[in-house]
Amino acid sequence: MAYMATSTADIAAMPRGGPRASCLDRLLQTDRLEYLDRDDVDQRVKRSVVRALEWTGDMFGNHEKFAAISLDLLAEVPDPRILELGAGHGSVSRRLLANHPTAHVTVTDVDPAAVAAMADGELGDHPRAVVRAMDATDIDADDGSFDLALFALSFHHLSPAQAAAVFAEGTRVARTLLIIDLPRPPAPLHLLRLATMLPLAPLVPFVHDGVISSLRCYSPSALRALAAHAGVALELRGGLTTPQIAIARRA
Ligand SMILES: C[S@@+](CC[C@H](N)C(=O)[O-])C[C@H]1O[C@@H](n2cnc3c(N)ncnc32)[C@H](O)[C@@H]1O
Repeated sequence: MAYMATSTADIAAMPRGGPRASCLDRLLQTDRLEYLDRDDVDQRVKRSVVRALEWTGDMFGNHEKFAAISLDLLAEVPDPRILELGAGHGSVSRRLLANHPTAHVTVTDVDPAAVAAMADGELGDHPRAVVRAMDATDIDADDGSFDLALFALSFHHLSPAQAAAVFAEGTRVARTLLIIDLPRPPAPLHLLRLATMLPLAPLVPFVHDGVISSLRCYSPSALRALAAHAGVALELRGGLTTPQIAIARRA
């Protein structure tokens, strides 16, 4: 299927399930923000979500997997320069540094509190790490500054227009942009996933954000439309029961 570059207005209005999403799929999305993205939410609530993310990533080996996928893409680069966007807790960057002896990592997030917490920890003192604030939609770095930019479990936080900007910006500053995010299941399965989470959403902030994440994640066809709009080439891997992996490069 060919994905034509779409107008900015079409992209802004595109459903999370992609331009040809079914009626049911179009109902399974929201503009509501996660606690993590809200300015009116207590920092303690946000930190509890970040700690839960870090814990589940450790438990299920996601941080290690994300670092391994990143380093596989850099197998031919002797001393890779890596940018992590939306790093949150910094666990993936810590593994990148531990698993590659000469990698240099710029560890970033748009949230100043997350950046301060990462700078206060091990990453702040690491000789091959720089921790700083950065917006993935408007990256403060020169063209070609990095071999790889990684954006893990964060893409769904963005509106379609912002998501297209990440494709453009990530591939401007890095030779390869690696996006890893939740898969968007077919609508009937998606309903089941939501039904298992909804009862706990009012009680547990991590589950509240999980439900919203699920409603906001992009389908493979949405990713293709966003990449086409940004004018970048895209390879997709995984999905459904595993995280969705999108590898973007300047066309
Ligand atoms: C669910 S957390 C993911 C944390 C970590 N990457 C992981 O794999 O567990 C999403 C992160 O994306 C960050 N974020 C949201 N919008 C962003 C943007 N425009 N630029 C950079 N980071 C952003 C949030 O502040 C948050 O730390």
